[in-house]
Amino acid sequence: MNILFATPECAPYVKTGGLGDVSGALPAALASLGHDVRVLLPAYKGMKVHGEIGDGVDLPAFGPWPAAQLLPVRVESGVTMLLLACPSLYQRAGGPYVDASGHDYEDNVLRFGLLSRVAALLGTHATPMAGWQADVVHANDWPCALAPLYLAQARADVPWHRTAASVITIHNMAFQGVFPMHSADLLGIPGRWRGIDGVEFWGQLSMLKAGLQLADAITTVSPTYAREIQTPDFGAGLDGVLRARADRLTGILNGIDTQVWSPAHDTLLLHPYSAGDFAGKARNKAALQKQLGLAADPKAMLFGVVSRLTSQKGIDLVLQHLDALLAGGGQLAVLGLGDPALQQALGEAARRLPRQVHVTVGFNEQLAHRIEAGADCFLMPSRFEPCGLNQMYSQAYGTPPLVSATGGLADSVTDATDDTAGGTGFVMRESGAPGFADALARAKQAWADPATWRRIQSNGMARSFGWEGSAGRYVDVYRHAQAAAHQGPR
Ligand code: ADP
Ligand code: GLC
Repeated sequence: MNILFATPECAPYVKTGGLGDVSGALPAALASLGHDVRVLLPAYKGMKVHGEIGDGVDLPAFGPWPAAQLLPVRVESGVTMLLLACPSLYQRAGGPYVDASGHDYEDNVLRFGLLSRVAALLGTHATPMAGWQADVVHANDWPCALAPLYLAQARADVPWHRTAASVITIHNMAFQGVFPMHSADLLGIPGRWRGIDGVEFWGQLSMLKAGLQLADAITTVSPTYAREIQTPDFGAGLDGVLRARADRLTGILNGIDTQVWSPAHDTLLLHPYSAGDFAGKARNKAALQKQLGLAADPKAMLFGVVSRLTSQKGIDLVLQHLDALLAGGGQLAVLGLGDPALQQALGEAARRLPRQVHVTVGFNEQLAHRIEAGADCFLMPSRFEPCGLNQMYSQAYGTPPLVSATGGLADSVTDATDDTAGGTGFVMRESGAPGFADALARAKQAWADPATWRRIQSNGMARSFGWEGSAGRYVDVYRHAQAAAHQGPR
């Protein structure tokens, strides 16, 4: 099958969160199942992609939009990257979505309108890649979410030509790509899809809603989140749309890239280790304590956090329970970036208690790996979590996670109090402060008994979180999407 995987970020080239990791690993897993996978990604400033670069392909002009090119690069994993080169839109200081001062780029509607449009074009008979047309266009999150609409439009305009099936994956309902309705002209949204059954969302234009309305199949990144987003508490205003399309919605748990996230092969660690060699983990802990200026105490229970600092991630609960975390010599190592108020509150704690708390504000891949390896227990008390990857990395690294019972956290961590033989972490029994306090007390109790702790660590390390199973489930969804596409417009 020819699969076009469209994404605004892809590790290791450009990453702000879990979507980057997924985009780096899932296409390679699909390619290893024998599919021809091409990843469409904007060519951002400073991005280095190593591989054999093919000839640039000019894209047709879309009205007044700036001219753009596709640069094909065949990379080691067997995937072809299609870099969408449009210097005036993508060659900028700052991240993929925000400028250097953290504000959304004013022309995001065009930047990601173009990404969606090119994704769709690659699934039509007018594909610019000579001889290659996608059978399935897999669009990820709001920045690609207009692709299903453009494909539906192509299918209606030229029904005698074959047009790819469309799949949209929701990585986070909190980000929807909402713009003023007048953008519909610029984007070329046909009149019939400007209303409530199309892109309209409280008088504005929602890119995500377009994708949810018009994709042949919808997936999200865990089975529990697939259920949650059909309720008002988690649906971010689109739960009604999702309920109406529930027969097209599937939850597929993300995998992890076991080449990158395995303690035995992790090139970013000072001391690689495995389930058969916990001494290596102790050495990583000592090195981390030293690096961060924490007391060099092997017996101190070291809690780790690597996270975007937003209300989603429940970091306020960590702050609220600081005394309980640090009681008896506990330590906390945080790596994160985001909400200035959270950064400041964490920074104050670190200044007050430098031997027990360390906070690194920034994005640091190496430190993220070293915290996963050096911490004893990983904290992830998210308010909602579509999938979450760090709780899986933590289990693979023998660092039992403390998590809330939501989304992919609920689907990937087994509570060690409930399941004393097979538990891999600590799952909050209720949300909010009481749930966190109770789970923390249970984690500390387990830590006090080294044999119990070792069993929980080993259980997590024995789990397989690779992409093999989930990649196969995506292929099933692609086939269902193709069948649905053939049945004509919905
Ligand atoms: P989300 O995508 O919601 O941020 P995930 O758990 O799915 O959450 O993925 C987050 C990814 O980003 C993980 O690979 C994590 O290690 C990484 N990450 C988050 N914050 C940082 C940071 N400050 N520095 C380095 N890596 C980070
Ligand atoms: C989003 C979610 C996270 C998920 C990631 C990759 O950023 O917040 O839970 O793991 O996407 O799917």
